[in-house]
Amino acid sequence: MEFKPDIYFVASEIYPFSKTGGLADVLGVLPLTLYKMGYKVSVITPMYGRISTRDFSPHLMYEDLKVGYPWPDISADVFRASFHGMPVYFIDRGEYFDRRYYYCTHKGDYFDNCERFIFFCRAAMALMKKIGNPPQIVHSHDWHTALINSFIYYQKLSDPYWAETSTVFTIHNLAFQGRFSVRLFWDCGLPYEAWNPDGVEYYDSFNLLKGGIAHSDMVTTVSPSYAEEIVTPEFGCGLEGILQKKKSSMTGIINGADYSVWNPEQDKFLEANYSATSPQGKKTCKKDLIDNLCLPSEMLNRPVLGFIGRLRSQKGIDLLLEIIPTLVKRNIGIVILGEGDSEYEAQLMNLVELYPDNVSGIVGYTEEMAHKIQAGADIFLMPSRYEPCGLTQMYSLRYGTPPIATAVGGLKDTIVPYPEKNSTGFIFKNSTSQDLLKAIDQALEVFDDKEAWMNLQLRGMKADFSWKKSAELYVKSYQKLGLGRKKSKPDTI
Ligand code: ADP
Ligand code: GLC
Repeated sequence: MEFKPDIYFVASEIYPFSKTGGLADVLGVLPLTLYKMGYKVSVITPMYGRISTRDFSPHLMYEDLKVGYPWPDISADVFRASFHGMPVYFIDRGEYFDRRYYYCTHKGDYFDNCERFIFFCRAAMALMKKIGNPPQIVHSHDWHTALINSFIYYQKLSDPYWAETSTVFTIHNLAFQGRFSVRLFWDCGLPYEAWNPDGVEYYDSFNLLKGGIAHSDMVTTVSPSYAEEIVTPEFGCGLEGILQKKKSSMTGIINGADYSVWNPEQDKFLEANYSATSPQGKKTCKKDLIDNLCLPSEMLNRPVLGFIGRLRSQKGIDLLLEIIPTLVKRNIGIVILGEGDSEYEAQLMNLVELYPDNVSGIVGYTEEMAHKIQAGADIFLMPSRYEPCGLTQMYSLRYGTPPIATAVGGLKDTIVPYPEKNSTGFIFKNSTSQDLLKAIDQALEVFDDKEAWMNLQLRGMKADFSWKKSAELYVKSYQKLGLGRKKSKPDTI
């Protein structure tokens, strides 16, 4: 019998098929966790050119599914793969998604991003209808898929197919709103009345994320602290007004870590595996990292700080780059993996050239190196100016690499700051390079006390951020919206 999902996740990235950051990590595990808990879940995502479907062999499910945007007879092909049993549907339209990058090149965003994601959202709507069995929950993520919830909000009024469907919208990053010219609103498929300040209009621009917030039955963010922060002007990115109005239907659910991927005990990228009960392998991983990056072997006995992330101001990379000359005077190692603003990339390369014995920088995206740094570094740096959740600090805790992070969003919610009794890392308050430096110095002092450091590491390694707890919180939210009211038929893929 054909699988007819009750919950559709719709997202622009899902690991291991596609990934530029934490959104993909979340989509790679949350739907699957719910699926394994017995819910009828599936995911809809674009078929990118760089998609990694090697082990999943998707098959063509629908050819020429009518989408009708941006011209009347345009269509999409739909492929389906089984991801550990859970269906993943890929929307395929070569000229939109088969590109070298997902959203932008080094020169900036693709000029047709709005058109691409209107197309995607409309194709996802058409697919959900084609499959039949009206969904109980449609859960979309970030600006790329926000429009789906707006479509459902309005289609409910005229099309009984959607009458029983509730929508959830998760904000992973409020700073990326998908703001475009009003011109793109007119034929996207929303009715004229959606164009108002309580809908998709934002100071004369078409704001897709705002529509998702306005038109969803429930809005969630990826940590409780971020949910509190974004209703303030400091973190609200101009949308604090509408978020305040939505406050009663908004909830912050912390992300989890996928320990089947991020676990030093079974990490296939590491030179040696280790765990809280058998931590010796971490030293081998440190040596492997140092050798790989051609840092001098004396660094094996010096603290090595690691950073992994987008080289953007959100991540506070500028604060770190600024204090590198001072850190070098302490004769420690600094390893940075990331890509992003060309200005930061150039500054990093310059520092590598100036301090080759202490600083190693990898500009690019490499999954293997991310794992090697988590395991091989002693201390993990996350000086973010804001952080909706942050996953890398959760991974670093499990890898025995205590994090130093700013007191924002999910960082605050996942790290117990030194010197508290159960501390797992270090937190500093203000996003300044001086405060970051002070926190690093505090960590270096503890690092010198071998026993205190080991205890800090072990507490972090034992901290449990597995997805089950968070997935259960999502279920509770779905149930508030009526999931389970109608009994689903037990069919299989
Ligand atoms: P964000 O989603 O804001 O970028 P998160 O901490 O939630 O931050 O997740 C980032 C994810 O992307 C992690 O899995 C991290 O390992 C990965 N990542 C970020 N930059 C790189 C990079 N240059 N190479 C490999 N992995 C990276
Ligand atoms: C975003 C946020 C990050 C979060 C991730 C997954 O990219 O910047 O903090 O962890 O989404 O939710």
